[in-house]
Amino acid sequence: MTDLPRIPLAGVIGHPIAHSRSPALHGHWLKRYGIKGHYIPMDIAPADLVDALKMLPKLGFVGINVTIPHKETILRLADVVTDRAALIGAANTLIFRKDGKIHADNTDGAGFMANLRQLAPQWQPTDGPVAVFGAGGAARAVIAALIEVGVREIRLANRTRIRAETLRHDLGAKLVVYDWVHARDMPDGAALVINATSLGMSGKPDLRLPLERLERGAVATDLVYTPLMTPFLTEAQARGAHIVDGLGMLLHQAAPGFERWFNYRPEVDDATRAAVLSA
Ligand code: ATR
Repeated sequence: MTDLPRIPLAGVIGHPIAHSRSPALHGHWLKRYGIKGHYIPMDIAPADLVDALKMLPKLGFVGINVTIPHKETILRLADVVTDRAALIGAANTLIFRKDGKIHADNTDGAGFMANLRQLAPQWQPTDGPVAVFGAGGAARAVIAALIEVGVREIRLANRTRIRAETLRHDLGAKLVVYDWVHARDMPDGAALVINATSLGMSGKPDLRLPLERLERGAVATDLVYTPLMTPFLTEAQARGAHIVDGLGMLLHQAAPGFERWFNYRPEVDDATRAAVLSA
């Protein structure tokens, strides 16, 4: 029997995994570019994570995405961790290298920035302060990326203040922590306002973030993308802000992994958005 070249496999591991849009996204790109490969959702319980990581490369996987609840644990199991993944304390993209080593990266921040650059190209890091609501894992990745591109002041408020303080401790003095009860002051003079909480997500409490002080012409973006038009974005738009929804961040964070696994840089455009939305 001749040895045929192996068809590269990639996928996403999480627990649960049924909600993930990544298979629809990567499936769209594979089909669109006529690439021989597969992208598979895999429900892996925490207790099985170590075994799964040993097996996947042997089965022909060239890499995987990692989602909740494995994004932090995976750092301890990887052999090589990029600086940005280490800084964020979580990884979302793994590459199974030919030498057997597992390379872990975090592309969330870069995905956020690429989406902003595409849909709000007028925004510049030096335009003014950035206001961030929320200090969870997603906020951490976004704030690290904002600092990297040269934003000088980041205002941060979180319901649980200690998480915001920890973020400032880890990411530096450009962060100014506001108390949650004073969060309404944050958009005052801000050029960019970001919802990095889960508020507004379908099925979550319909609490509103205070936007009375949002400037006309500021950019407002939400990391929540179900629904696409969140109450935060609806209100920001009504106040004259330029809005950017959260779906693009999901699409852009996926592109570097696809490129490494399948050797092709995929585009993020209207067709990509439509493919994921209709899945
Ligand atoms: P992710 O990885 O998406 O950032 P996370 O780490 O669980 O998820 O963070 C969720 C964020 O939404 C946090 O900032 C959280 O605030 P707490 O740190 O106080 O939990 C915020 N959040 C969730 N529900 C909230 C609510 N009802 N009111 C205010 N903030 C809320």
